[in-house]
Amino acid sequence: MSTQSRSVHRWKDDPVLTVEHMSMRFGGLLAINNLSFEVGRGDITALIGPNGAGKTTVFNCVTGFYKPTEGRIVARHGTGAQVAAVEHATTKGKRWHSTDAGAVFLLERMPDYEISQKAKVARTFQNIRLFSGMTLLENLLVAQHNPLMVASGYTIGGILGLKSFKRAEKAATEKAAYWLDHVGLIDRADDAAGDLPYGDQRRLEIARAMCLEPLVLCLDEPAAGLNPRESADLNLLLRYIRETHGTSILLIEHDMGVVMEISDHVIVLDYGVKIADGDAAEVKSDPRVVAAYLGVDDEAEIDVPEVRKDLIEVTGRTKKGAGDE
Ligand SMILES: Nc1ncnc2c1ncn2[C@@H]1O[C@H](COP(=O)(O)OP(=O)(O)O)[C@@H](O)[C@H]1O
Ligand SMILES: [Mg+2]
Repeated sequence: MSTQSRSVHRWKDDPVLTVEHMSMRFGGLLAINNLSFEVGRGDITALIGPNGAGKTTVFNCVTGFYKPTEGRIVARHGTGAQVAAVEHATTKGKRWHSTDAGAVFLLERMPDYEISQKAKVARTFQNIRLFSGMTLLENLLVAQHNPLMVASGYTIGGILGLKSFKRAEKAATEKAAYWLDHVGLIDRADDAAGDLPYGDQRRLEIARAMCLEPLVLCLDEPAAGLNPRESADLNLLLRYIRETHGTSILLIEHDMGVVMEISDHVIVLDYGVKIADGDAAEVKSDPRVVAAYLGVDDEAEIDVPEVRKDLIEVTGRTKKGAGDE
């Protein structure tokens, strides 16, 4: 990969999120090892890698479910890297800092509810976590609990009488209806979430996350278990979210086809270490990525005919092309 091609990478100039020198240790296991990457504002960024590579752990650290053992994670409202604001927050021990240019948030210092409500970084889970006994609409209203409670003044009187609460309630319902419509589930608004087929539950989770109006939407394997048709619909939905709401999307994905089709930027993890980082074309032809995905780390093994065939399918290149760089 040439330095020249790196300099055109937009995510370096306008990162909505940066992970810097992050490590996460579970007892004796170093699940993430000194990981750094940027997520460009408005980009679809994919985090890929074999099972156990540490992808979900990265999400858990970014969204506050785990506190990383080491490292800094910065989210930015407003444009540009806002270096001075980040340094100010870091040295003053603050969780966030606002300036005329925007605001920066040090996520490793924030609990999960602040990360979603204030920093506006929202997520879905690898294993669906909906309230299965509640209706679709209720699931989306619960997600908006915070603005509703603020509007009530945190009193029962507020909930029963205040105009501000009625207005907030109406806005929350309208937002829920908007997202139910856009994920194609408005007709099922009053059904229990647990009664939905699997693919619909995955889309409902995305709708729930979008009700938080996130700046960054983190999706953990949203296409897992979907059929090709549902997977194609999901790609359209992600593009719609990015294009009409300007939401930056950080996506964990297993399916290389999905990743290469929709991603502006691809980051590859293997054993908790970043092994490649670039646009789809660069990453696809990186021999380290091919080796990690096919479980080969030595050119000699690529001479096995089945492996060679897989390799050509993944990279579209012959052995010679895949090997020289
Ligand atoms: N809470 C935890 N406690 C101990 N080990 C964990 C925990 N979460 C993840 N790990 C380990 O960290 C490594 C990375 O896991 P994970 O982030 O789930 O990988 P991926 O999502 O890429 O498949 C694995 O070896 C996994 O067993
Ligand atoms: Mg995972």
